[in-house]
Amino acid sequence: MPTLNEIRSTFLNFFERNDHQIVPSSPLVPRNDPTLMFTNSGMVQFKNLFTGVEHRDYSRASTSQKCVRAGGKHNDLDNVGYTARHHTFFEMLGNFSFGDYFKEQAIPYAWDLLTKDFGLDKEKLLVTIYHTDDEAAEIWKKYAGLPDDRIIRIATDDNFWSMGATGPCGPCTEIFYDHGPEIWGGPPGSPEEDGDRFIEIWNLVFMQNERFEDGTMRELDMQSIDTGMGLERIGALLQGKHDNYDTDLMRSLIEASANITDGAPDGPGNVHHRVIADHLRSTSFLIADGVMPSNEGRGYVLRRIMRRAMRHAHLLGAKDPVMFRLVPNLVGLMGQAFPELGRAQALIEETLKLEETRFKQTLDRGLSLLDAELKGLPEGQNLPGETAFKLYDTFGFPLDLTQDALREMGRAVDIDGFDAAMAEQKAKARAAWSGSGEAADSTVWFDIAEEKGTTDFLGYDTELAEAQIMAVVKDGDRVDTAKAGDTVQFVLNQTPFYAEAGGQVGDTGTLETDSGTARITDTKKVAGVFIHFGEVTKGEIANAQAAKLEVDHARRTSIRANHSATHLLHEALRKALGDQVAQRGSLNAPDRLRFDFSHAKGLTAEELAQVETEVNSFIRQNSPVETRIMTPDDAREIGAQALFGEKYGDEVRVVSMGTEDGSGKGLDGQTYSIELCGGTHVRQTGDIGVFVTIAEGASSAGVRRIEALTGADAFRYLSEQDHRLAAVASELKSRPEDTVDRVRALLDERKALTAEVAQLRRELAMGGGASKGEGAEAKDVGGVKFLAQVLNGVSGKDLPPLIDEMKARLGSGAVLLIADAGGKAAVAAGVTPDLTDRVSAVDLVKAAVPHLGGKGGGGRPDMAQGGGKDVENAQSAIEAAEQVLTG
Ligand code: ALA
Repeated sequence: MPTLNEIRSTFLNFFERNDHQIVPSSPLVPRNDPTLMFTNSGMVQFKNLFTGVEHRDYSRASTSQKCVRAGGKHNDLDNVGYTARHHTFFEMLGNFSFGDYFKEQAIPYAWDLLTKDFGLDKEKLLVTIYHTDDEAAEIWKKYAGLPDDRIIRIATDDNFWSMGATGPCGPCTEIFYDHGPEIWGGPPGSPEEDGDRFIEIWNLVFMQNERFEDGTMRELDMQSIDTGMGLERIGALLQGKHDNYDTDLMRSLIEASANITDGAPDGPGNVHHRVIADHLRSTSFLIADGVMPSNEGRGYVLRRIMRRAMRHAHLLGAKDPVMFRLVPNLVGLMGQAFPELGRAQALIEETLKLEETRFKQTLDRGLSLLDAELKGLPEGQNLPGETAFKLYDTFGFPLDLTQDALREMGRAVDIDGFDAAMAEQKAKARAAWSGSGEAADSTVWFDIAEEKGTTDFLGYDTELAEAQIMAVVKDGDRVDTAKAGDTVQFVLNQTPFYAEAGGQVGDTGTLETDSGTARITDTKKVAGVFIHFGEVTKGEIANAQAAKLEVDHARRTSIRANHSATHLLHEALRKALGDQVAQRGSLNAPDRLRFDFSHAKGLTAEELAQVETEVNSFIRQNSPVETRIMTPDDAREIGAQALFGEKYGDEVRVVSMGTEDGSGKGLDGQTYSIELCGGTHVRQTGDIGVFVTIAEGASSAGVRRIEALTGADAFRYLSEQDHRLAAVASELKSRPEDTVDRVRALLDERKALTAEVAQLRRELAMGGGASKGEGAEAKDVGGVKFLAQVLNGVSGKDLPPLIDEMKARLGSGAVLLIADAGGKAAVAAGVTPDLTDRVSAVDLVKAAVPHLGGKGGGGRPDMAQGGGKDVENAQSAIEAAEQVLTG
């Protein structure tokens, strides 16, 4: 029985034998289609080849394409676990012809592969065709010998395939397998077609049209082929199974899930294991392709899938995170066919573990809210939308998770109520938003691009260039002239100004024509048009004039240094922390650089020092920075770091610097840093000067941020630190290298002195050395030994221990102490225990306080405190206390 890995190889080998280029699966995040959430079929990466916009050096290709159908238009998430053939992740096997062979060859290939290489019984196969496609019918009849009743004509869109509302499309023929009359179901097109007897296994699309937004269609110049066959589906068939989840690969994952939870792959938890097995695949592959869990877009779909799996793990009774422990199993099963999985293993594990640990904290509370809510709900009634929204908003339950939980109880969510609650929240958010008002948002740039073409960028080689002004835009409209004082945007046919992209800020500088000058304050790019934000400083500038453009050299020099240093930093981080470190964002400004990267925890001081040291050693290596243009495949071959989700065309720019062997010569295989990058860089790494990190912290969950300086800024920073240290050393009368020891010694000394001062104060007070006024000796007042004293330089908090000592000294009696604490007076009284039923310390304090210009006072009968502001009347305060004693 062939394994899924073997079936994939058989398929690809068949087409390789037939002169097809085996092309790796493209990432799940489509690089050439911003409208598509995830790659959902094999043809996505070839879209522009069908329409003739893009050309490659092959005209036949074959792939096993990673696909995700969750979120967006094709959403199978809700069904996973409960059905035999739904997946959020699956592989689509396909063969493609770009203007090479057409129907006459595509049908024979499919027939031969199925009946010869896969050995399927010819008698069990039947096909559908588009109702008008006589040509396809004829080929099926002639080549495969299929009788008319096994060539079914279908008039609906089922046999006219299109990838979306627009794009390449065409009629298709689908191949079905008949599982025999013992299974219920009818042939395609019949009322019983939804049964399980006839299962579609392969779709061959005859790409010959292109559909446009207005609904019209054109004939493509060339006729092409796009086919798709689900690996899991053909796998089940070839392994004699009816359920995709019984194939070897899915079964291994289900067993792995059971092994670490309930131990029963086929027990009552079977649905949970199926969900976990499927979701483990989609989440791991998405993370490997650069998607991170978040609250919007692709990241939110990932989070929804993860959380759904985690709830099912919870239902299996798992107390600790489960998903991340299954990643090694998945890598073992699929890592060979998809090396990116192994490369990202650590990142996948960390991401899953973090998300699962976090979500567990609200999962229990959310589920008990749900339980409580359901208890009060009549049988069969839907869950109110506001409750589902609260679960979403407060407990992080995606709507489909709540729906999934309810499905097991035969209930649903009141979706209208949920939508209304969501709309209300959004309306509030919108009311609080005032619009970005950015000039770069305007549609005028698209018009200019259409009419005048895009801007040629010359800034890799020069910071000075002549160019033709193509448009002057003021307040969103094109104008003929701009005069001194005007704030406008200029578009030119070519420019040395770098437009903000890939983390590098836009250039600034000057624009000069025969009649005027403008200061350029920023450069951005929309639809290939470089927008120069300018302020006319002199004269007048008119459309269509020739202009001299000059980039601010000093600023650009700093930006170059920061950008090149960012590349060295990226590589140094990968060396120090592991290959899973992936860039998440960056900023290359003139005065600093910032680099965000995936890493679960903060860097230790040693790691940071190692990174800083390594970057500086490659700066000193002073190797040339080389840029090359190559195909994306060649770039990957030499190990270039690419940013996920970026659009890469036929050619990419590859920036490399540094050599591992220290030779300084950029030999392939020895090169230290290789990245796909469109930015501007230094000529030699030595131009960076020096690199110093100034901050390291968390930027968001699982993402760290390093901020750093280079060149003159780094030097200034270090020199300022040095001056500060010299000043400290001079104050300490020590050498800079001894300051740490000196400061430590001073702090120890200070601690000892503080303790000594407190002790001396107490002793002074007791001995009366610092006291003034009378009453250092106890006297008899109303039959009570009374000791009253005014103390200088003692604070209120010093009084209680002194009261205790004096009480002990008296044995039996009352004490009143008034502290003269620099403009403030504190008073405390104490009464020994034998007298507290006759005299209360509280009364003594309350009598004294008003004389000191204070109010209140309180405590216990044996000890009380209060305060005031004038110590001058201390004597009358003491007398007032005596009055209390004499009654
Ligand atoms: N693109 C075709 C499909 O997805 C082959 O069915």
